[in-house]
Amino acid sequence: MTNPEKNFDAKIEDILSKLTLKEKIGQLNMQVSPRNDQALADIMDQLRRGEFGSMILANSDTAGNDAPESVNTAMCNKVQKIAVEEGPHGIPIIYGRDIIHGYRTIFPIPLAASASFNDELVEKAARYSAIEASAVGVHWTFSPMLDMCHDPRYGRIIEGPGEDPVVGRHMAKSMIKGYQNGDVSKEDSLLTCAKHFVGYGASEGGRDYYRTEIAPYTLYNYYIPAFREAVNAGVDTVMPSFNDISGEPVSGSKHYLTDVLRKDLGFEGLLVSDWAAVHYLADQGITANDKESTEVGINAGMEIDMCDNCFINNLEELINEGKVSMETLDNAVRSVLRLKFKKNLFENPYCKMPQVDRTEHLKCAKELASECMVLLKNEGNVLPLPKDKRIGLLGPFVHEKRALLGSWCSNGKEAETPSLCEKMLEKFGADKIITENNHTEIDDVASAVIFHSDILVLALGESHRVTGERRSLSDITLTPSQKALVKKAKASGKKVVGVFFCGRPLALEGIAEYLDAVLYAWHAGSETASAAADILYGDIVPSGKTVITFPRQVGHIPMYYNATKNRFNCYYGSYADFSYEDSTATPYYPFGYGLSYTTFEYSPVKTDVSEISLEDVQKGKKITCSVTVTNTGDYDGKETVQLYLRDVVGKMMRPYRELKDYNKIFLKKGESKTVEFTIGYDELGYYLADGSYILEKGDFEVLIGENSLTKNLAKIKVI
Ligand code: NOJ
Repeated sequence: MTNPEKNFDAKIEDILSKLTLKEKIGQLNMQVSPRNDQALADIMDQLRRGEFGSMILANSDTAGNDAPESVNTAMCNKVQKIAVEEGPHGIPIIYGRDIIHGYRTIFPIPLAASASFNDELVEKAARYSAIEASAVGVHWTFSPMLDMCHDPRYGRIIEGPGEDPVVGRHMAKSMIKGYQNGDVSKEDSLLTCAKHFVGYGASEGGRDYYRTEIAPYTLYNYYIPAFREAVNAGVDTVMPSFNDISGEPVSGSKHYLTDVLRKDLGFEGLLVSDWAAVHYLADQGITANDKESTEVGINAGMEIDMCDNCFINNLEELINEGKVSMETLDNAVRSVLRLKFKKNLFENPYCKMPQVDRTEHLKCAKELASECMVLLKNEGNVLPLPKDKRIGLLGPFVHEKRALLGSWCSNGKEAETPSLCEKMLEKFGADKIITENNHTEIDDVASAVIFHSDILVLALGESHRVTGERRSLSDITLTPSQKALVKKAKASGKKVVGVFFCGRPLALEGIAEYLDAVLYAWHAGSETASAAADILYGDIVPSGKTVITFPRQVGHIPMYYNATKNRFNCYYGSYADFSYEDSTATPYYPFGYGLSYTTFEYSPVKTDVSEISLEDVQKGKKITCSVTVTNTGDYDGKETVQLYLRDVVGKMMRPYRELKDYNKIFLKKGESKTVEFTIGYDELGYYLADGSYILEKGDFEVLIGENSLTKNLAKIKVI
């Protein structure tokens, strides 16, 4: 974030004037963590020569996705000492790492955290992540990831906010606020990085690092808003994406990085490449070698080059040949130095390794896990489970720990993560839980468990190893053995509950029909099992809502709620003739959907006026819309009240409806609350293909309800 009371310009210019060409280039080079003593010795020498200015605390490009690579704080301080005492002009090193959903305490994967619709908890989780990561020496996290996505096959869907730009905006703001904590110069704050700019979530077919086709109208209204919000929230850095948009690799694109991000969105921070993204420009076929990639990358706007040595090996020559200007180089160095001043590294370069009490962090992890789990089905109110019945616990995730932490779990420890079985035993008592000792999915042990139980709970899902970077899937249904287990359980005639531990929405047609209840528990981090057991037991009332459409079948992808309306106004493929001949292409569960143990009733939508003039909207006048929500069931509970807007006639085709705001409220049984929203300039307009924002006169529908299918609406007019 910008620190208005501190202007570092004079200091930056002073250092810049003393740096040699080589030393300037060194500041733009990000080094990888040394793997062994020899590598460390080499790095020390490079540092004495000023050949790098930042380091990623990882030694693989998917750090935190593979087996955890711990941060070695002693090494960081040792390297820093060389930088400060023996490197050129005492410029400190800045350390970055992917802190995606926690450091040691693991919070729900971001896709799940979004489903909590609880901005305060998301901010708190980011705050606690910053405290833990900064305590081991991390200065800068490569988060939040803000890639909108329509395709649950894409492994990296776990890292982002799902399919809705407004949810993306909320996540951007809350996470940035939490990491920065009002002042990034504090020791326990983290610098932030909005990534991957832009369109990476649109990878065709959900394949990682793949091409995208995104028209400017879609780009501005769908993929850019979360980044615009991040810039407005004061994000410190931005990481350009690996993908190309219609043949133009973003990481080498002056149009996207300078014209759109800098000029249009007003971003003033630093641009850091993704891992070897400059080098990959040659793989993408727009350059012939690293030298050309360097020229294209830096001239497009890239400032730090992550781990591919392109800049360090080629910039000097390019400057001497006049292919890269001194001004371009100096500006990039200024950005790096500014980041280091903002983080107060010149004054405070070393990590003091404070002890961190994680009690509150684990409490927050539990709350967020509890609020993100989505109850998708609960026929005959089979949940919460009766306390006097014998529960048969089966399935491959009964004893699982690692998968619950999810992908990018950093220093989360499997051994510290309770399994569902452990938590169920704690809750229900050993005499009520009948289970098997290993991961047996279907055999005679399963038959015996089924036979001796009154109700069955199946722990199902997917491993962390098929989610995250480079981990896309072509088939997002359950594995055959899990399907067989579901059917076998159903055939017993007993009530069957499915608890799904997943990193993406699975295609549940042909599975959920066999289950009486479905609790989508996600990979919700350290406290996944604890939260799930509490929900099953009824100590916690579920309140998560989907932030991504659950398709029935893989063949229906892409399926998302905020698509443009078509000839029959058919929403989500609900008009059969305009869908498929062989299947019903409605969503299995729509966007914004989630049940509770209690029920909520909504009053009709009220607006304070039914007309507003365009001039008044432009001057900032707003319409107030409200509903009264009543808890009509038997439990106290939380409800996410959602406001959607439909622009009935526009110059451009407009989405059938778009989420504009939400408010998560708590209601005791029998209690009513009136929820008010305002809509005005920011909600009523949209972006045209040239990036300009347009407001139009005409009719709008304001819909407020429990999910994206709500029919509770009021009409308003802009005149
Ligand atoms: C590649 C990933 O795309 C990016 O998100 C991450 O920050 C870098 N690797 C560094 O680990």
